[in-house]
Amino acid sequence: MERLSLDVNGCFDPAAGGLTRADLDALLPAARAAYEGFEARRRAGELGFVDLPGDAAAADAAIALAADLAGKFENLVVLGIGGSSLGGRAIIAALAHPYRDLLSRERRGALRVFFPDNSDPATFEALLGTLDLAETAWVTITKSGGTAETMAQHLALRERCLARFGEAGYRERCVLVTDPAKGALRAIARAEGLRALSVPANVGGRFSALTAVGLLPAAAAGVDVPALLEGAALLEARCRSGAPLENPALLLASVLHLMDVRKKRRIHVLMPYADGLRDLGDWFVQLWAESLGKRPEVGPTPFRAVGATDQHSSLQLMMEGPHDKVVAFVRVVQPRADVSMTVPEAYRPHAEIAYLHGHTMGELIEAERRATDAALRRNGRPTLSITLPRLDARAVGELLMLLELATAYAGGLYGVNAFDQPGVEAGKRYAQGILGRPGFEKARDELLAAPPPDGALVLG
Ligand code: PA5
Repeated sequence: MERLSLDVNGCFDPAAGGLTRADLDALLPAARAAYEGFEARRRAGELGFVDLPGDAAAADAAIALAADLAGKFENLVVLGIGGSSLGGRAIIAALAHPYRDLLSRERRGALRVFFPDNSDPATFEALLGTLDLAETAWVTITKSGGTAETMAQHLALRERCLARFGEAGYRERCVLVTDPAKGALRAIARAEGLRALSVPANVGGRFSALTAVGLLPAAAAGVDVPALLEGAALLEARCRSGAPLENPALLLASVLHLMDVRKKRRIHVLMPYADGLRDLGDWFVQLWAESLGKRPEVGPTPFRAVGATDQHSSLQLMMEGPHDKVVAFVRVVQPRADVSMTVPEAYRPHAEIAYLHGHTMGELIEAERRATDAALRRNGRPTLSITLPRLDARAVGELLMLLELATAYAGGLYGVNAFDQPGVEAGKRYAQGILGRPGFEKARDELLAAPPPDGALVLG
């Protein structure tokens, strides 16, 4: 069976200022400890994300609810932010037709799915003003059950829906995904009689792509959810060792950690050569940053690029800028079963164009990737490659699980808890204080007590 592969030779290339096997050997005890620490927390029931591929009942519930919505509506709006949005968006972008919203319902065979994500009123108003609400269902996703951005959007949509379709129409259109027991949204589900799926209590936001958070939108968009979970399970089964050379996620975590702490390559670029994986790059950025950025001296900076597009943009910086990056390519061997476009023959006298004749577009993008990899390495820039046999649900499941496990192990290697995010709390408290939430007066006063800005430093 073809499966995901990981090639880290580009980080051990002497020409790329690389690592040595001795560096890796020296890390072995720490890698084993990171693995064992992870396994201990898993056995204690703290890290539910690893077991999600085996939760057939939860997947079936998401698939059934999506089928019910698809039978009644044309559109699904997903209200959620951060980990409650990025996973579903990434899965759909990777696996559904890139221009599905322009297809007829018959050809699309599934719902159109929209992720407003941010609380920018301009985007949200534009979306609500464009969609036919009679044909639109929505899912409000918040694990904590009260995230400001998500709940403000929920309230706006709820009010419009109640005014137009009444209580029964609201209940038909609105579904919720939240903690099984805690939080305001769970209480609202009960009080309003809304259908609600659960994010297991032991699965945090950015590790929840394979819960209803990602699976409900994915199923609504027609993604093969069982194959996605099968891929995740296959990858997880390959990660049952504390030796990096026997565990791809531990190898990835170990190499990126070494590149950071030994070689000062603190910027970790994920660069898929597939448009479908662009959003997965955004998902990775959140996963790596929010999980590992925990102390002033700890926290590699993730960066997302897309090939070949970024060869005409940020590649210049990667190629000749500071020696502070590792570029992790994601290569897709077979972009899609039905993609075989060949460059037609014309412009024969123009040698700078004629060489393209007869090559497939797939050959072109692969040549670009190979060339960029080789050029980076020759220029002293370390790379690594994750190869997917094709861009299908199984491979995307493998990739999601690889990056989630690598993040968890990296937390162990850096000595931080990859599963919390205390740093985002202060900003949330200040915002709630400004907006007048009772109990948050102290935060508001702290903010107001800040010294006034120096007028000379404000222009305009
Ligand atoms: O990874 C995380 O925990 C966060 O990014 C959350 O997903 C994000 O803050 C949204 O939280 P919630 O699902 O509680 O609305």
